Amino acid sequence: MVDASYKPYGLEPIETASRDEIAALQTQRLKWSLQHAYDNVAAYRKKFDAAGVKPSDFRSLEDLARFPFTTKHDLRDNYPFGMFAVAMDQVVRVHASSGTTGKPTVVGYTKKDIDTWSHLMARSIRASGGRPGMKVHVSYGYGLFTGGLGAHYGAETLGCTVIPVSGGMTERQVQLIMDFKPEIIMVTPSYMLAILDEFRGKGIDPKSSPLRIGIFGAEPWTNSMRAEIEAAFGMDAVDIYGLSEVMGPGVANECVESKDGLHIWEDHFYPEIIDPESGKVLPDGERGELVFTSLSKEAMPVIRYRTRDLTRLLPGTARSHRRMEKVTGRSDDMMIVRGVNVFPTQIEELLLRCEGLSPHYQIELLREQRLDVMRLIVEARPDRADESSRAAEAASLTTHIRNLIGIGAEVIVGDPGSVERSAGKARRIVDKRPRD
Ligand code: DLL
Repeated sequence: MVDASYKPYGLEPIETASRDEIAALQTQRLKWSLQHAYDNVAAYRKKFDAAGVKPSDFRSLEDLARFPFTTKHDLRDNYPFGMFAVAMDQVVRVHASSGTTGKPTVVGYTKKDIDTWSHLMARSIRASGGRPGMKVHVSYGYGLFTGGLGAHYGAETLGCTVIPVSGGMTERQVQLIMDFKPEIIMVTPSYMLAILDEFRGKGIDPKSSPLRIGIFGAEPWTNSMRAEIEAAFGMDAVDIYGLSEVMGPGVANECVESKDGLHIWEDHFYPEIIDPESGKVLPDGERGELVFTSLSKEAMPVIRYRTRDLTRLLPGTARSHRRMEKVTGRSDDMMIVRGVNVFPTQIEELLLRCEGLSPHYQIELLREQRLDVMRLIVEARPDRADESSRAAEAASLTTHIRNLIGIGAEVIVGDPGSVERSAGKARRIVDKRPRD
């Protein structure tokens, strides 16, 4: 694992540029991006016109707040290709995110967009401690999901050897890791836990694996989960963030030497935090919804795209670019249980304090006698699966949740392996409440 002697490698000038230089570049690129969206996407032209703003009204960064937001609805309404700003023969690739309901949202890339994405993914892998010549095991899904191909192109661009495994077939994942000896793995944190279980199930000490760096994202995960994975594998676990609408993975990444939140690659994406209710822009340091405007995207520019992700902006540390704090959750994932707002990550934090429980979990929301009930499905660790340990762990987790979150929860401690596993993003919440 990295220590105080760690020196970042191959920094690009923009990663350590002054804030003035970054702001100047952003201003110049925003002018282009707003004009490009207005001139080439009917949906943006209509929205700008309705709001009474023109691209020429943008003179400095503060002016961005005058422009209307874009939401997932705008993408759905223009399904599949209506948000594209270039002719279809310029679009070299599409991806789509499935979402939980309805039509997927479709995104497109020109050749230059793919190059920018690959470059930013290479930058992200480098920030995570990756170097040319290392081998990268990619377990993010390949296909319409941006994880697999995004990681793949980035690792190649950095000069790594890519092992394109995709998600699933956990036994084979372990076999390939032990045989091909990759130093880096890129995978969702929840699937990494499934891989960890497989190591243990096979009687292989995870510390004996060649993995030294894990680049985990696509879903919220806590610092406690980081500690769990780092201790098990003796690796550095680093957070990567992104979303299809804005590009895919590599919009922001932690630096391995600081692990203090994710540096947003501000030369290509302009972040804002807004109050999700009023839409008002909040100052750096305040928590709210993350909004992005793309600065260089050709095929599908996004203007003030509302991510629904909740976080806050912090000043740069290991790089000049501002950081976003680890995402607490999506506003869509916020559960309101008897009036108290709860995110799955809060439960995760408390679960990881219980030594007799494994880190896998799922939350069921039920309605009993008109009241919301939160049922937490967890599982015993294999060496602590006896009745009395389970009862003790259930009682202690219930107490933690009552004392620290302020709600009653029904905790069910199942057998090892009983919680639903996913080879990609974990499904944390199962809402069984009747729709009214
Ligand atoms: O999940 C892109 C990605 C792939 C990111 C691989 C990182 C690694 P979508 O499927 O469009 O794209 O989902 C985007 O996932 O709005 C967040 O809610 C969530 N998300 C992504 N990264 C993180 C993260 C990819 N590091 C949505 N922490 C986003 C928390 C994350 N949530």
